[in-house]
Amino acid sequence: MQEALGYLVQTDDGSLTACHPDYDEAFHSKQGALTEAESLYRDASGFAEHMTRAAEDEARWGVLDLGLGLGYNALMTIETWWRCGGPVDLELISLEHTALLVKALADTACEWKQGWSPEWRQWSQSLDCVDSTLWRASWRHPQSGRELKWQVQVGDARQANLPEASLLYIWQDAFSPKKNPELWTPEWFAKLRRASRPDVCLVTYSVARVVKDSLHEAGWEYRLLKASQHKKQWLRAQLSAKV
Ligand SMILES: C[S@@+](CC[C@H](N)C(=O)[O-])C[C@H]1O[C@@H](n2cnc3c(N)ncnc32)[C@H](O)[C@@H]1O
Repeated sequence: MQEALGYLVQTDDGSLTACHPDYDEAFHSKQGALTEAESLYRDASGFAEHMTRAAEDEARWGVLDLGLGLGYNALMTIETWWRCGGPVDLELISLEHTALLVKALADTACEWKQGWSPEWRQWSQSLDCVDSTLWRASWRHPQSGRELKWQVQVGDARQANLPEASLLYIWQDAFSPKKNPELWTPEWFAKLRRASRPDVCLVTYSVARVVKDSLHEAGWEYRLLKASQHKKQWLRAQLSAKV
C-alpha cells in the first residue's frame, strides 16, 4: 500500500498523512491529521462533550465515518467512547472504497501509525476481515459493560447499507467537492438524511457553495463554525424541520 499511497507527509502536529494517488489530494490538511480529527470531528461537533453527559439508558448511538482513509476519525471516535467510560452502545460505520487502505490499517506494519498510541494501534489491528466488502471489530467497556461495534464497509459509499434513522453523528470527510463530487450531492445528503435520527449532527471541513446548496436541497440546515488556526470555517448541519 505504501507504494500505492505515494509518500507519507508529516503534518504540523507531527502526525502523518499521505496523498491518494487517484485523487492527487492529501487525506488531511497540512495543519495536522490528528488535530483535524480532534478539533473538528471530536470537539467542534460536540461529540466529546455529549459523550461525557450521555445518560446510561440512552439508545444506541450510530456514528458514520465517511471515508475511513487513514483511520484518524474512526480511532478518535473509539478513543472518545473508551475514555468516557463507554456510557452508551455505539455502532461505528466506516465507509471506504480503497480496499488496500483498510488492509493496511489492520496491519501491524502500517507506516502511517508512527507516533500512534498503543491503544490506537491495538484497536486498528483488531479489525477482522469478514469478506472482501466487510471488516469488523467490537469491544465491551469494562466499566459500563456497553458495547462498541465497528464495521468497515468496503465499496462505493453511495451503495452503502445504512440502517434507517440510526445515525447521531456523521463525519463527512470525503476529498474536496472538486475531486470527489459524488459525495457532496443532494442525492448523497438525502441518503444520509434517511439514515439519520432527528437529532443528528453532521460536521465537515468544507464550506464550499456546492456543499451548502446540496445540503439545503436535501433537507439539511447548516451553520458555520469558527475553525481553529489556519482554516477560517467549518460546517455543522442538522435536519431541517421544514422538510
Ligand atoms: C479525506 S479522506 C478521509 C480521511 C479520513 N477520514 C481519516 O480520518 O484519515 C477521504 C476518503 O474517502 C474515500 N472515498 C472517496 N470516494 C469514496 C466513495 N465514493 N466511496 C467510499 N469511499 C470513498 C477515499 O478513498 C479516502 O480514503
